[in-house]
Amino acid sequence: MKKNSIVIAGGGSTFTPGIVLMLVENQERFPIRQIKFYDNDAARQEIVAKACQIALSEKAPEIAFSYTTDPQTAFTDVDFCMAHIRVGKYAMREQDEKIPLKYGVLGQETCGPGGIAYGMRSIGGILEILDAMEKYSPNAWMLNYSNPAAIVAEATRRLRPNSKILNICDMPIDLMEKMAAMAGIASRKDLTVRYYGLNHFGWWSDIYDKEGNDLMPVIKAHMAKYGFAQAKSESDQHIEKSWNDTFAKAKDVYPLDPETIPNTYLKYYLFPDYVVEHSNPNHTRANEVMENREKHVFSACHEIIEKGTAVGGKLEADVHASYIVDLAAAIAENTQERLLLIVPNGGAIENFDREAMVEIPCIVGKNGYEKINIGRIPRFQKGLMEQQVAVEKLTVEGWIEGSYQKLWQAITLSKTVPSARVAKLILDDLIQANKDYWPKLS
Ligand code: NAD
Ligand code: G6P
Ligand code: MN
Repeated sequence: MKKNSIVIAGGGSTFTPGIVLMLVENQERFPIRQIKFYDNDAARQEIVAKACQIALSEKAPEIAFSYTTDPQTAFTDVDFCMAHIRVGKYAMREQDEKIPLKYGVLGQETCGPGGIAYGMRSIGGILEILDAMEKYSPNAWMLNYSNPAAIVAEATRRLRPNSKILNICDMPIDLMEKMAAMAGIASRKDLTVRYYGLNHFGWWSDIYDKEGNDLMPVIKAHMAKYGFAQAKSESDQHIEKSWNDTFAKAKDVYPLDPETIPNTYLKYYLFPDYVVEHSNPNHTRANEVMENREKHVFSACHEIIEKGTAVGGKLEADVHASYIVDLAAAIAENTQERLLLIVPNGGAIENFDREAMVEIPCIVGKNGYEKINIGRIPRFQKGLMEQQVAVEKLTVEGWIEGSYQKLWQAITLSKTVPSARVAKLILDDLIQANKDYWPKLS
């Protein structure tokens, strides 16, 4: 087996230590010779890097480790770039969430006006990383978690159509862990699913066990009673109160189409009024994450650095990390594993825009992916998806053209926004808040 060289872009991310530990634990299926971190915030990255360096020197001293803010150093001699950058960091996520709430519109990292604002920041950052990777390691693959993945994926489809970038999401993975538990099955990997939609906007229509037995009846019964609550997952990522509410709220999303199982993110589009009523405009998810995950990861890193050892430390590998390692291993070792990816539709969903980026199962190997044919989807899902995909495309066109008009249209078209008037008020505030990040609009 070939030994791989990985660069993690967004080295200072709260998810970096989990991925490093997962890489170390999975060397049997995905051998590693080198791990590098790249970030544009040297101070933030250094804390995560120093802790990971200690963990690596104890667990896998044979792996070369380094960290840098220099693109050439970072992207030279790599096989994979695992990307999870957050342009503007939590300070800007907080703005994305709080500005729409000022106008009675929900504030969310990837949905509605907040997601559009984040997309307008992410596109440039992702293109920079992708270009650096292609310049210094032309054969490398970029596996991208950076959000909003739907908008990032559409931007790279438009602007870098031949690049080796695969965009992914961990939400279906955690939900599949839960659905496996509902069906009394040990591992999500023993489920074969048919899933379709956009990123953070999809549905399961079929779920089978390894022998091909239909698991939908037992999962549907659970959904009708509890949503995704009361189903244990190995994930320790989606654990705070707001996530528990989201899992429980799926009980109300599910009856809209009892033939399919909805992604949790559909609550933002189907119950936006409920979400706003249950939001605190002065304390949003960004605050919750800063008080929990960010604090936890950085204090765990500080502790490791102070003690000089990661033995007994508080960093852990998680489900989120396992999925990106699955994908890397599928490519490196040509496993032909079936994985959900965000890819150009091109007819896989027969009655939907061929040029949309959709999230569907694909067979993954050394030469990339082959899409599983989905066929025709129901009118309800198709109608919702057409509206949302137009939002995503208008955002990307707005970024490319520097068009105020297109951004106004994008926000107006979002199902989370009540009128063009409100859309304009939110847009004008977002422009102010994002002046260091967005292209100039006219
Ligand atoms: P974080 O703020 O802790 O980490 C992001 C890092 O990116 C920071 O260290 C920051 O300095 C760095 N960064 C910002 N702009 C950069 C640039 N232009 N070049 C290089 N580095 C840059 O964020 P987090 O909460 O750990 O999340 C990281 C990303 O992963 C976010 O985009 C988040 O939405 C995404 N994410 C996606 C999924 C998914 O399902 N696709 C799941 C979890 C997290
Ligand atoms: C899920 C989604 C990610 C998103 C994350 C937000 O995992 O799939 O795309 O980034 O939730 O979680 P957070 O804990 O940062 O609110
Ligand atoms: Mn996601």
